[in-house]
Amino acid sequence: MKIKIVSLMLALLLVGTSIFAGGAQDQGQDDSMMEKVSNNVEVLHWWTSGGEAAALNVLKEDLEKKGISWTDSPVAGGGGEGAMTVLKSRAVAGNPPVAVQMLGFDIIDWAELGLLANLNDVAEKENWDAVIPDALKGFSKYNGVWVAAPVNIHSTNWVWANKKMLDDLGISIPETWDEFVMALEKVKASGKIALAHGGQAWQDATVFDSIVISTGGPEFYKKTMIDLDDAALRSDMMVEAFKRMAVLRSFVDDNFSGRDWNLASSMVIEGQAAFQIMGDWAKGEFKNAGQVPGEDFVAFRFPETQGTVTFNADQFVMFNVDESQQAAQKELASSIVAPGFQIAFNLVKGSVPARTDISDAEFDIVGKKGMKDLAEASANGTLFGSMAHGHGAPASVKNALYDVVTSHFNGMYTSEEAAAELADAIKSAQM
Ligand code: BGC
Repeated sequence: MKIKIVSLMLALLLVGTSIFAGGAQDQGQDDSMMEKVSNNVEVLHWWTSGGEAAALNVLKEDLEKKGISWTDSPVAGGGGEGAMTVLKSRAVAGNPPVAVQMLGFDIIDWAELGLLANLNDVAEKENWDAVIPDALKGFSKYNGVWVAAPVNIHSTNWVWANKKMLDDLGISIPETWDEFVMALEKVKASGKIALAHGGQAWQDATVFDSIVISTGGPEFYKKTMIDLDDAALRSDMMVEAFKRMAVLRSFVDDNFSGRDWNLASSMVIEGQAAFQIMGDWAKGEFKNAGQVPGEDFVAFRFPETQGTVTFNADQFVMFNVDESQQAAQKELASSIVAPGFQIAFNLVKGSVPARTDISDAEFDIVGKKGMKDLAEASANGTLFGSMAHGHGAPASVKNALYDVVTSHFNGMYTSEEAAAELADAIKSAQM
């Protein structure tokens, strides 16, 4: 795998260098005409749901006020797999966008290729080092150079529920796994859909983040999803985790396969289903539908993961661009990190600010809880990167996990087989 990455890097560098060199020559020929400054930023992202688009508008409008126009390059697909595929072909063609939404380890992979911009002057001027938490900085900076502007912090171990349905069925918020299963059974018996889920690998893996913590506790999550410990990956505890995945599988409806995550959120919003296990971008959908937390919907930590937070942060990675585009690119970076924008944006997106110096005053009860949980988990050593969303391990390992988790969810492996397959797949992904 290492060899594969290195050869991809070389290929990208060679193609990139020759195309960039060609560009520089062309530029040299008509230097006098090339002094024009571009006030446009092209941004590649996967924010295509209603809530996500609403949040993105906050950024577009903020930039418009500053005289910067936006060229939108959306690529649908939660978790960003599709967007990363498009980015690879753009980079190979020597034509990367000005900025790209990216998660965790992917940023490091791109930084290693030497294709990213240096934002240190903006970061120093605005003191990013003092306000961006270390958990994020580990991905925003590469060899001491800021290459990305973090826009938020999401976390994956949440459950979203239709409040009226819970009230009607006399279900109180489940605190333990057993209570959760009983609640799911009660909904199923009522004829409604218990669990709204979309059968896509990244969504199955998102549920798996929570299941691993809930089954084995935070140390087990760290050992398996961060340290990639082979013995823990193939342990009885992991078999148990897969058994819990199979239990959840029995509560989804027949049409779950391939369903987009935001359609699953709509099922809860519209009262067709009771629960959805999803990161807090789901809150963006509830809010976009005019729903109020605590009144129309409730959000709680996945049972038996309370006290632990599996996070992912969206960052806008800045690519090396022509000099004429650099001022707009830096303005984009600066706007993303600005405190006022972090509040306005994250209120809509469902996430919490990527800065440690922001008050929770303007946030709703879920946002306030998200900020408090994050600070506590960080202080207690129970804040971990989400494996499903690129913050546990590099993409090669993440994709290996996706394959096994989704195959098991679709009945292709027993839970015993799945644990062994997972350990094997993760081992070979690291070779
Ligand atoms: C991103 C979120 C996004 C979600 C669904 C996650 O990987 O971090 O910003 O809303 O995918 O598209």
